[in-house]
Amino acid sequence: MVPVRIAPSILAADFGNLQRDVEMVNASEAHWFHIDIMDGVFVPNISFGMPVLKAITKHANKPVDVHLMIVDPDRYIKTFKELGTDNLTVHYEACTHLHRTLQAIKAEGMTAGVALNPHTNISLLEDTINDIDLVCMMSVNPGFGGQSFIENTYKKVTQLKELIEKKGANTLIEIDGGVTDQNAEKLVNAGADVLVAGSFVFRSDDPTSTIANLNTLANKA
Ligand code: DX5
Ligand code: ZN
Repeated sequence: MVPVRIAPSILAADFGNLQRDVEMVNASEAHWFHIDIMDGVFVPNISFGMPVLKAITKHANKPVDVHLMIVDPDRYIKTFKELGTDNLTVHYEACTHLHRTLQAIKAEGMTAGVALNPHTNISLLEDTINDIDLVCMMSVNPGFGGQSFIENTYKKVTQLKELIEKKGANTLIEIDGGVTDQNAEKLVNAGADVLVAGSFVFRSDDPTSTIANLNTLANKA
């Protein structure tokens, strides 16, 4: 059985010691790198851009999951592929022609993700779920690390799991925002396949063992 993946969010890393933190993730039980790209327009914050992603992928030796919180993401699909992205996630709320965007991502050889803001209803994915490799369920309002988990997420994960099963889709469910050892098991029991964790990992005294603990919790659930 495929394990539940743990994806540390580099947004919470120490940017002054980025290579050290990337290598910590390489050597840990984490499965993926989660990279947040924010443009200051779609979300009220700017994170980092292409040169920093390039520096990360130069050292990362696990799959790179890029979460675009930007308007008009179609402009950069090719660029993110060239920078070493394995999964590219766009926001439902930022795509006028979502179906076309998903095909364009896959045409570049990446898997395609769709992120949903906390207010966005699962039923809006009825007509695209079979084209989506991963749904990134935002469990905080996107834009910042370190926010508290929104409890309504459990219900949405259950609804999404039902939709995926009903449609016979192969979509992974990723949870992003406020993930800790307090909600990991419950999220997996509701249907989560990937847990993103930023502050909980990087603000802990021992990030390597925090990742290992999350992995144990997620995979015993
Ligand atoms: C929020 C980002 C998240 C963030 C998660 O907009 O999409 O990936 O880094 O950070 P924590 O785990 O601190 O909520
Ligand atoms: Zn994210």
